[in-house]
Amino acid sequence: MEKDKEIFQRKNDHIKISINENINSISSTWLECVRFVHNALPEINLKDIDISMEFLGKHIKAPIIIGALTTGTKLGLEINKKLAEAAEKFQIPLMVGSQRIQLEYPDTSKYFTSIRKNAPSIPIIANLGISQIIQMENFNSIENIIQSIEADAIAIHLNPLQETIQPEGETNFSNAMEKISQLNDYLKIPLIIKETGAGLSRNVSYNLINMGVKYLDISGLGGTSFAAVEYSRAKKQNNNLKSIIGNTFLDWGIPTAASIIETKSVAKNTTVIIGSGGIRSGLEIAKSIAIGADISAIAQPFLKEAFKNSKELESFIEKLISELKSSMFLTGCKKIKDLKKAEYVILPPLSTWLEKRLQK
Ligand SMILES: Cc1cc2nc3c(=O)[nH]c(=O)nc-3n(C[C@H](O)[C@H](O)[C@H](O)COP(=O)(O)O)c2cc1C
Repeated sequence: MEKDKEIFQRKNDHIKISINENINSISSTWLECVRFVHNALPEINLKDIDISMEFLGKHIKAPIIIGALTTGTKLGLEINKKLAEAAEKFQIPLMVGSQRIQLEYPDTSKYFTSIRKNAPSIPIIANLGISQIIQMENFNSIENIIQSIEADAIAIHLNPLQETIQPEGETNFSNAMEKISQLNDYLKIPLIIKETGAGLSRNVSYNLINMGVKYLDISGLGGTSFAAVEYSRAKKQNNNLKSIIGNTFLDWGIPTAASIIETKSVAKNTTVIIGSGGIRSGLEIAKSIAIGADISAIAQPFLKEAFKNSKELESFIEKLISELKSSMFLTGCKKIKDLKKAEYVILPPLSTWLEKRLQK
């Protein structure tokens, strides 16, 4: 295949594999190890529960980000239209998928500008991979990435697991920290550093926070596994070695619950933690906020629902909101910040992990 077309093909492969195949990691998020203590006398009216909050300088109606998925191809355009419309309707933030394609093919910018047209008032987050940042001599090309969607922030994704398995993966991560620091100094909008399903550890979060990064999307293990996605692609390409490696690392990473707590343990007052990776219900959103996240993000399920139709997508968001409100009712929480005081118990294996990692 011509190199030109490779990136478009790869993006469409990711979408199709994520919709049609089981790409969930073997491990769970470990959020099931977090058990809220039931409150039989919550002393609030369910109708009065308020899940709105401020995020990136805008008022949003629920702590749910539509996570980074896809952009830059015709198929991506159709899906993004539905995602952007739903985000605008429910007044929740949207993080676009990697805009790398825009660096290489500037005429694809039209696919991106339409996203902002469909979602004029919500926070929209731009997205690029760390590999592109490492290769940049200066950051001028990022201006177009940001302006095309009038982004409120930009997320840089870390995907070493994917790059090591992907047949065409870019595995030079040398100098990444220095580049992130330079980018953080350069940007006029907030920088979000995000993982892609393998989680941020305490040390990585500590280094990023101390370098001045305020927003961390921990994207932990327990949902979409890029080892599984790339395993499937490598198999279809008859790439025996890469498919074997993909299979070996199907369960690699830090489960989402552990990653949130590790990051919270080194967070400053100003740090904003996005809890993501395998979040599938409003109860899991409530749990991730109770243990340290400020807001949550969900990726693959939104892709699946959007691929069906806008109605299914909207029903899924309504389900998440109802479950979140029920979780808050049953723990006596009227506002999102009250979840920080909700009572819960942490059971093994999460409790064992935390004993070994955080009580040294
Ligand atoms: C089809 C697909 C494409 C993705 N593309 C990107 C991307 O371009 N940039 C990014 O930061 N993350 C990307 N992700 C990762 C998600 O944003 C998220 O971190 C990960 O899937 C874990 O969340 P989930 O379990 O809710 O899917 C992608 C995920 C899927 C399923």
